[in-house]
Amino acid sequence: MKPSAAAAFIRANTAVAAPPLVPELPLYQATEITPIWQATEETLARANLPPPYWAFPWAGGQALARHILDHPGLVAGRQVLDFGAGSGLVAIAASRAGAARATAAEIDPVAAAAIALNAALNDAPVAVESSDVIGSAGDAWEVVLVGDMCYERPLAERLTAWLRRLVAEGATVLLGDPGRTYFPAGGVERLAGYTVPTSRELEDRDSRDGGVWRLLP
Ligand SMILES: C[S@@+](CC[C@H](N)C(=O)[O-])C[C@H]1O[C@@H](n2cnc3c(N)ncnc32)[C@H](O)[C@@H]1O
Repeated sequence: MKPSAAAAFIRANTAVAAPPLVPELPLYQATEITPIWQATEETLARANLPPPYWAFPWAGGQALARHILDHPGLVAGRQVLDFGAGSGLVAIAASRAGAARATAAEIDPVAAAAIALNAALNDAPVAVESSDVIGSAGDAWEVVLVGDMCYERPLAERLTAWLRRLVAEGATVLLGDPGRTYFPAGGVERLAGYTVPTSRELEDRDSRDGGVWRLLP
């Protein structure tokens, strides 16, 4: 799907709304889960594209974005990567907090279009990296931010091993996570916790405890 078609799909199937924990950064969001999933089945699945993760600011990403905005010193003046950016919320927060450069790594081309739209909406410069960077040298990034990526075992294991290598080489890695199954059982330090309002449709509950963690080597 071409970026212009992806942007048109996003505009047609979302509305601009404020993430509950990060109201200062509005995003193009699905207001309900069912219609966008149906639209995705009809339009995106035909193009062999993944489900619309980009249409929701996930609880882990919201907690991490909140933490970055409230502690800008974590990213100010630094080269920052938001891995698995989805809507781009965390990269946008880093850009707003004064990152020297905020890059959003995202392999879904529709998400890449959503990140561009959301970054423009918030007047926050964000670069998009669309290759799979797991396993790469990673030395271009001083701070790596990871929102809600521990939902699938093979991905979480591959990602965590790579992130630990980056930490050993000197990077700071911060994770936002609401208790997903494949979050690392050890080697993390909890920095903060936020009650993130969520929808029952998406999370089966009204709120989640969004932890912010620093990954240890
Ligand atoms: C649950 S969403 C999290 C989005 C965002 N970080 C947040 O917290 O709202 C997971 C995202 O990771 C992306 N993703 C999965 N594997 C990836 C990879 N190897 N490289 C970059 N992005 C990836 C998916 O396309 C999806 O948009």
